[in-house]
Amino acid sequence: MKKLWGGRFTKETNKLVDEFTSSIHFDQRLALEDIEGSLAHVQMLGECGIIPAEDADAIIIGLEKIEKKIIEGKVEFAVEHEDIHMNIEKMLHDEIGPVAGKLHTGRSRNDQVATDMHLYLRRKTTEIIKLVEEVQKAIVRQAEENVDTLMPGYTHLQRAQPILFAHHLLAYFWMLERDKERLEDSLKRINWLPLGAGALAGTTFPINRERTAELLHFDKMYPNSLDAVSDRDFILEFISIGSILMTHISRLSEEIILWSSQEFQFIELDDSFCTGSSIMPQKKNPDVPELLRGKTGRVYGNLIGLLTVLKGLPLAYNKDMQEDKEGMFDTVETLEGSLSLLAPMIDSMTVNQDKMYAAVSQDFSNATDIADYLVTKGLPFRQAHELIGKIVLFAIEHQKFLLDVTLEEYKSFSPLFGDDIYAVLQPKHVVDARNSYGGTGKQQVLIQLQLAYDNLNHK
Ligand code: ARG
Repeated sequence: MKKLWGGRFTKETNKLVDEFTSSIHFDQRLALEDIEGSLAHVQMLGECGIIPAEDADAIIIGLEKIEKKIIEGKVEFAVEHEDIHMNIEKMLHDEIGPVAGKLHTGRSRNDQVATDMHLYLRRKTTEIIKLVEEVQKAIVRQAEENVDTLMPGYTHLQRAQPILFAHHLLAYFWMLERDKERLEDSLKRINWLPLGAGALAGTTFPINRERTAELLHFDKMYPNSLDAVSDRDFILEFISIGSILMTHISRLSEEIILWSSQEFQFIELDDSFCTGSSIMPQKKNPDVPELLRGKTGRVYGNLIGLLTVLKGLPLAYNKDMQEDKEGMFDTVETLEGSLSLLAPMIDSMTVNQDKMYAAVSQDFSNATDIADYLVTKGLPFRQAHELIGKIVLFAIEHQKFLLDVTLEEYKSFSPLFGDDIYAVLQPKHVVDARNSYGGTGKQQVLIQLQLAYDNLNHK
């Protein structure tokens, strides 16, 4: 088959080369962006008198027809035409004849493909921000219902201090808030237009890049044509942010898996988000959070993949750069899939408040509070810490928790103890006493919830 660039060739391309170099099986995802970019480019060419207005109009009509066919799924892409850009140009030839050849005036596939990817990532980044918000809403909803639910807070996965379940959930709200901010911030850089850079050095035609930027709603143009066609840092940035976001999703998933185990039983996932075992009839497996955790690996892989592709490339375009796409698409699709599942999964899970409370009341996570109690009675903290360590040891030896130790026993350790110690040791008291800004005390958690609503409502 004759290639659009076939002029200087005397032989047909080897079939294996066609297959090896072709990107159409993945870059067809850029079809609509490619047409959007071409529409703006050709309109600008017409307005600047670089091609006759009637030719520009014919090309626009042709492109719009192709766009409609693509949306209706009525086109077939061919490996022989290598990539989405050549496929669409070939369709345009078939649609309107030789005038189609004027579309590529003053443009190269190098600035074209970079533009397509900027358009694509701008759209996807905006959509992903919305999906992150849906997860945040689900977290807030569960948090609202659990402002009185006590649970053990952990360090080293050992019970440390009791906290509110709402507080634990909201920790993820803020991680996602920063992910969202990072995504929003990246839009500033995605909004640079590469089109007009030509193959690498600009073009001899009197193009108007400002106009193309305006038509495509870009805030800026790359000021350097080499940079415009060579860098993919906007994709690296997207996958980096995606990697951090997946880290957060993965940690939350890990906790959900732990909490839903028989050992914890803190939450139960809705049946519709679990799967069974082909051999063990009793099993209800948390496959969804496990896969969310697992899929984090591929996003990290995509990041390292693209960093490696780019690290040794001389300016300007090199075919290596075609390898920028699959990792980008995969990251977009992984994030979309993960976030879409996470929101309803959190929303529909059941919280076993009693199990959580039982865990809190049968442990030593109120030990810090006895130390603080003695400090308020005048004992230096280090001394109090040492003393309480001994009391904990005593309690363990006598198979008691701190609320079961008698006043006499307490007094035998220090005369500073009075019977007000028992109120201090109640888990609810322990939690609410942490009333410093950002702490787990209910009053602070309510303030935090209000802040979360305000963020969601963009106040
Ligand atoms: N399919 C190519 C890519 O994705 C488009 C750019 C081709 N440019 C070139 N000079 N061969 O990178």
